Amino acid sequence: MAMSVEAMPVKTMSVTPLSPALGAAITGVDLRKALDDATVKAINDAFDRYIVVVFRDQELSEADQVRAAGYFGKVHIRRRPANGRTPGGEYDTPFMMVTNIVENGKPIGSFGDGEMWFHHDTSYYPQPHRATFLYAMKLTSSGGETCFANMYKAYENIPQPLRDRLEGRKVLQVHDYKRRERIDLGKVGVANIQHHEQPIIITHPATGKKALYISRLMSARIEGFSADESEAALEALFDISEDPAIVYEHEWRLGDLVVWDNWASIHARKDFPRDEPRLMRRCTIEGRALGF
Ligand code: SIN
Repeated sequence: MAMSVEAMPVKTMSVTPLSPALGAAITGVDLRKALDDATVKAINDAFDRYIVVVFRDQELSEADQVRAAGYFGKVHIRRRPANGRTPGGEYDTPFMMVTNIVENGKPIGSFGDGEMWFHHDTSYYPQPHRATFLYAMKLTSSGGETCFANMYKAYENIPQPLRDRLEGRKVLQVHDYKRRERIDLGKVGVANIQHHEQPIIITHPATGKKALYISRLMSARIEGFSADESEAALEALFDISEDPAIVYEHEWRLGDLVVWDNWASIHARKDFPRDEPRLMRRCTIEGRALGF
């Protein structure tokens, strides 16, 4: 695929930080064109450094988005889960449409309306995805910003006594298609939902840095703690991870392609008018098991 398009020389690219927390805009790159190796390396270096990279004013076909994603790793192909519960969208495709659009009474994609709490993508899988790509195709007149928190900084901000208690522990990550409520394991039963235990502090496989690995939406329980101890520790960690000082809030423009490091960040979505269509094309890069 990449051979049929003209190569982009590295000299046009520049990287501009977007906030003290994380994030950088990469300009001078037209992702409709194949990129040379030096440019791909510079983009990946910026990605490892800034955690979130934003390409503005892109006009991307599906093939362009897949080619761009492929510069970051192996593009994940989505398959319908055995229980068939994932709503909307096509299957055996790299793409998920993140949208509130309903056609003929059926959602054409996932994640519907409104606010979504902070989460990692696929933290409830044994091999959480490395990166996520969201391409803005239709936006509402206000709201719908996506917020990203820097989980290296979250790790650094954990008070030492709590950090000592968390060292070497795992946290149960769960998923039940909720967007803004914690799962009550007493009611739902962990066996009935997607779940996986992950290190609560990971060593990032690409950068070697320590990152906190919890989120308000998906982290249910810290192993080895009593229920009360676990709740108290998780509440403290949610506050640390959502501290505005370590969060970048992305205000979308049409044609933005935003790429986030799904091991070093969590993300959340703000509310938006429900009677206006919002449409984003999403794909991900395959991951690997995360270690302490
Ligand atoms: C997501 O959580 O992956 C969706 C973010 C968004 O819709 O802005």
